[in-house]
Amino acid sequence: MAKVAMVTGAGQGIGEAIAKRLARDGFQVAVADLKADQAQRVADEISQAGGAALPITVDVADREAIFAAVRQTASHFGGFDLLVNNAGLGPVTRIDDVTPELFDQVMRVNVAGDMWGIQAAKEQFEKKVRHGKEVVGKIINATSQAGVRGNLNELLYSSTKFAVRGLTQVAARDLGPAGITVNCYAPGIVDTPMMRKLAVDQGRTMESYEPLISVRKITDPEEIAGVVSFLASEKADCINGQTILCDGGMQFE
Ligand SMILES: NC(=O)c1ccc[n+]([C@@H]2O[C@H](COP(=O)([O-])OP(=O)(O)OC[C@H]3O[C@@H](n4cnc5c(N)ncnc54)[C@H](O)[C@@H]3O)[C@@H](O)[C@H]2O)c1
Repeated sequence: MAKVAMVTGAGQGIGEAIAKRLARDGFQVAVADLKADQAQRVADEISQAGGAALPITVDVADREAIFAAVRQTASHFGGFDLLVNNAGLGPVTRIDDVTPELFDQVMRVNVAGDMWGIQAAKEQFEKKVRHGKEVVGKIINATSQAGVRGNLNELLYSSTKFAVRGLTQVAARDLGPAGITVNCYAPGIVDTPMMRKLAVDQGRTMESYEPLISVRKITDPEEIAGVVSFLASEKADCINGQTILCDGGMQFE
């Protein structure tokens, strides 16, 4: 029986690459995004390549909508094995830029969205029959190298990504005994629409980030998808509560 995953923010960028990679790995994939047309496009491309995909329009900041999306995925494919909480907002936030409205918006997507996702996935995982000490479900969250070290001009964004590592560690401890693992991937500078806009907002070119990266290479979304593919696989069943830095060597732990 093919495993079932839902990837949020899968309409473009890193999430699109993850959804396509998981489909190639044999997962049946719900392609969840705020933008319906983008979710449909990615799902169509997965289907055309021979995979199984379900487009879902969802705002991860909306708790009821996330529960509905996960339930729809489970009922459509007949099970639920993996949630990738990838959707996130990445505004440049110099100290004076942070307003109460922006704080609420970014926290609700980057932090609350992950919490609602964890709750909704837990609901499905708890329905599963566990054989022995097998892993019955996985949750993989998007943090950032900016969630490992404080980054210049990212007061709000860095704070949300630190919070993602915190909630990941707590959920990993709370859910581990039930056979559910929770981990993070922490990209650095990845060639996506978000990062290209962020570069413009910082008055920089993408290439100007290369000296910050020890391997001197902007990361491709597919490289991050490879890390998520590993975390999603049985090879990573003994990894729990961890942040896997995949930033080309920007930060060292
Ligand atoms: N690109 C990078 O260099 C980089 C680095 C570190 C971490 N990240 C993290 O990786 C994740 C993906 O980043 P990306 O660069 O692919 O971003 P992106 O902006 O290019 O794509 C994000 C996708 O998420 C969707 N989305 C946004 N808000 C949503 C919401 N409320 N509900 C559902 N979907 C929503 C968007 O429609 C979009 O399709 C984010 O969490 C980001 O913070 C990215």
